[in-house]
Amino acid sequence: METDNSLATAASTPYTELSPPSTPPQKNEILGDARSIAKAKLSALTLEEKVSLLTAADFWRTKAIPEKGIPAIKTTDGPNGARGGIFVGGTKAALFPCGISLAATWNKDLLFEVGQHLADEARARSAEMLLAPTVCLHRHPLGGRNFESFSEDPLLTGKLAAQYIKGLQGKGVAATIKHFVGNEQETHRLTIDSIIMERPLRELYLRPFEIAVREANPWAIMTSYNLVNGVHADMNFHTLKDILRGEWKYDGTVVSDWGGINSTAESLQAGCDIEFPFSSKWRFDKVVKCIEEGKLTVEDIDRAAENVLTLVERIKGDNMDPEAPEMEDNRETTRQLIRTAGHEGLTLLKNNDDLLPLCPKKTKIAVIGPNANRAIAGGGGSASLNPYYNTAPLDSIRRIAEKEVAFAQGCHIHKWLPVASNFCTDKAGKPGVNINWYAGDKFQGEPVVVQRRTNTDLFLWDSAPLDQVGPEWSAVATTYLTPTATGKHTISFMSVGPGKLYVNGEMRLDLWDWTEEGEAMFDGSIDYLVEVDMEAGKAVELRVEMTNELRPIAKQKQFNMTHKYGGCRIGFKQEDKVDYVQEAVDAARAADVAVVIVGVDAEWESEGYDRQTMDLPVDGSQDRLIEAVVKANPRTVVVNQSGSPVHMPWASRVPAILQGWYQGQEAGNALADVLFGIQSPSGKLPATFPERIEHTPAWHNWPGENLKVLYGEGLYVGYKHYDRTRIAPLFPFGHGLSYTTFEYGRPEVSSRTLKEDGSINITLAISNIGERAGSEVVQVYVHDVKSRLPRPEKELVAFEKVFLEADETRHITISLDKYAVGYYDESIPGWIAEEGAFKVLIGASSTDIRRTTVFQVKESFTWVF
Ligand code: BGC
Repeated sequence: METDNSLATAASTPYTELSPPSTPPQKNEILGDARSIAKAKLSALTLEEKVSLLTAADFWRTKAIPEKGIPAIKTTDGPNGARGGIFVGGTKAALFPCGISLAATWNKDLLFEVGQHLADEARARSAEMLLAPTVCLHRHPLGGRNFESFSEDPLLTGKLAAQYIKGLQGKGVAATIKHFVGNEQETHRLTIDSIIMERPLRELYLRPFEIAVREANPWAIMTSYNLVNGVHADMNFHTLKDILRGEWKYDGTVVSDWGGINSTAESLQAGCDIEFPFSSKWRFDKVVKCIEEGKLTVEDIDRAAENVLTLVERIKGDNMDPEAPEMEDNRETTRQLIRTAGHEGLTLLKNNDDLLPLCPKKTKIAVIGPNANRAIAGGGGSASLNPYYNTAPLDSIRRIAEKEVAFAQGCHIHKWLPVASNFCTDKAGKPGVNINWYAGDKFQGEPVVVQRRTNTDLFLWDSAPLDQVGPEWSAVATTYLTPTATGKHTISFMSVGPGKLYVNGEMRLDLWDWTEEGEAMFDGSIDYLVEVDMEAGKAVELRVEMTNELRPIAKQKQFNMTHKYGGCRIGFKQEDKVDYVQEAVDAARAADVAVVIVGVDAEWESEGYDRQTMDLPVDGSQDRLIEAVVKANPRTVVVNQSGSPVHMPWASRVPAILQGWYQGQEAGNALADVLFGIQSPSGKLPATFPERIEHTPAWHNWPGENLKVLYGEGLYVGYKHYDRTRIAPLFPFGHGLSYTTFEYGRPEVSSRTLKEDGSINITLAISNIGERAGSEVVQVYVHDVKSRLPRPEKELVAFEKVFLEADETRHITISLDKYAVGYYDESIPGWIAEEGAFKVLIGASSTDIRRTTVFQVKESFTWVF
């Protein structure tokens, strides 16, 4: 490790710098001055019309007032694609790598391009507003939604989010940056109170939003479900009014999370403009009543309605064209971008003796593991969608390998049995499930609607034909399941409302009055199992009777309603008749190299719940598999697919480890390209991989108790905690290897003094001294040599990714300004740059610092935004 502590004067550098990426100007005001037009339109509205704008019209759309030239806006989830209106089995869409995989690229230009493509995808779903990006931090490895957000670090998160937003909005589609704020866990997400001291709130959790607002002006922000320091986020005066609107002068529109409004007057006064989705619970006549009672003023309503109209103006103006049906738009350029994002996100954690890349011509490979022969493309919840296609690692590897590729499953890791869809048809053999819908919840009369579905994951909350069946409905789903083998097979059944499962006419599971709540999103029961003797090729009839009466029944009183969603999920698994581990060991022994593809999936890692443990599921099966394989063949590569760190007790015995994240529809292809060295991996960890869960910063305060979670680790999240406690992580923040080697030149600084409105340029040469092309992520951290309040040992302040051919050298320039040195001091209150020296640490990871330099702030100064 070379370092340079000198305070030498700035020297000139050759003018071959790769300048920081320039981005096209933002189309902030595509239709002229949106706000003045909004003001003019507002003046033509009645009070009722204004109030009607403050709640969505349905699940996804804002309210239109056609007679006043106000169209509706259609929104769509979510961060890694534009799903469209239906959660499961909707219009096919491009599935991008998940948030943490995109963050692992550390590539701002790429995130900009991803934003642009997502804009086109959103338009194809006839949506003009994407519910993304997710910028909550990875406070703890078990966070259920870590996969869809970027990082443990606020700067990395904020800078990448800003580019994503610029790409999206540059094409006229609104970003909805979410969830504002303090939503770092899913456990009790609607009711948990995140207790966060002011300094970490500012320096960590608000920071990505702050950077995005300053650099990219997102047209919308979504509040979170939780409370922040005792007050729900949708009605939090401190975060919404004082900070967002006050200090940051945010001029966009604030929307609630879905079902995340918790008051009438307060949420409007605090500044939550639109309630999503449609509901009559908090707004409409209650708003009018609050005005009459003096709890709200007409100005409060005007302000919120004007924000709604500004959003409409920015996106649509008065374009009243009818909404087009959702379309597919499966383009080659998007597929290529997703594949490149895959290469750049794959993070090589370990590669002893250059075991990777593999040689397609000579190496005999055994591909092993529960994630090898299926496409693990994304996490679960609102970020999921129906991809144009999937690529499974085994197929993609077989396409490139010239020698025979053996496969062994190794073990199963189902959290719930796999959906039965692949085995299910109608009587005539056409794939799918038929649903007969009845008006009312008593199965009376003739079916009002007959539907056909392709999936046996029948969570119907977003797609019940309520217009035809009314608010209380009953339905019968029928399908014919044909096993491929004879045996004692297992069927699973999970019900949202009351439900009964019949197999060949016999009732096998009665969940009419179920009480045990499961983890799956949207309020279902636990998964119940039933074993059935079946014959290969012989169909059994499955019939489900269900209604949308609210279950468990105790909830009817609690929520003062009797009917809500209905639905069910049917899973299926054939009896196991093989010794999976033995098969894997045999395959590994017979091969030159074993590639074991393990991890979690969208059932283990999802919105709606947190993971319970950092161990790979289930009950050690994957750890045992890896240990057995590496013993059988020491030339073993482990690929781990997950959206956050997993426990790797075998890490010291496995020579090569590649972190595979969830990489969308090109996951298999991107992985195969990297395994065979067609591309060098260039990902770096956006989150620390701890050795053990007990070492993590939030260990003592997760996931809280009695509906309160104390962010007791304060500023020391991620690498800041590992630096301070001197606990060595398994793999540090920012770590990631390449197939080539980079050298860092001596940094030159443009000035040794940082002034209030100035900046300092740091230039250094990066050389690829290996024999292959590759990309390096240069990370710049700052250490405040002396400060009045305690500060983390170092903080990431800038980063640049540079692509280099073999033997190539380029100069990169990194600019630092006041934001690189400031911290938040509540006693001011405000941000302060304190006079004194700041050490710059330039490295290939948070612990691999290659060069250092120093600059000064001569006189302390403060600021607000
Ligand atoms: C999620 C949001 C999402 C919304 C709409 C909520 O449950 O928290 O992130 O955009 O649903 O699907």
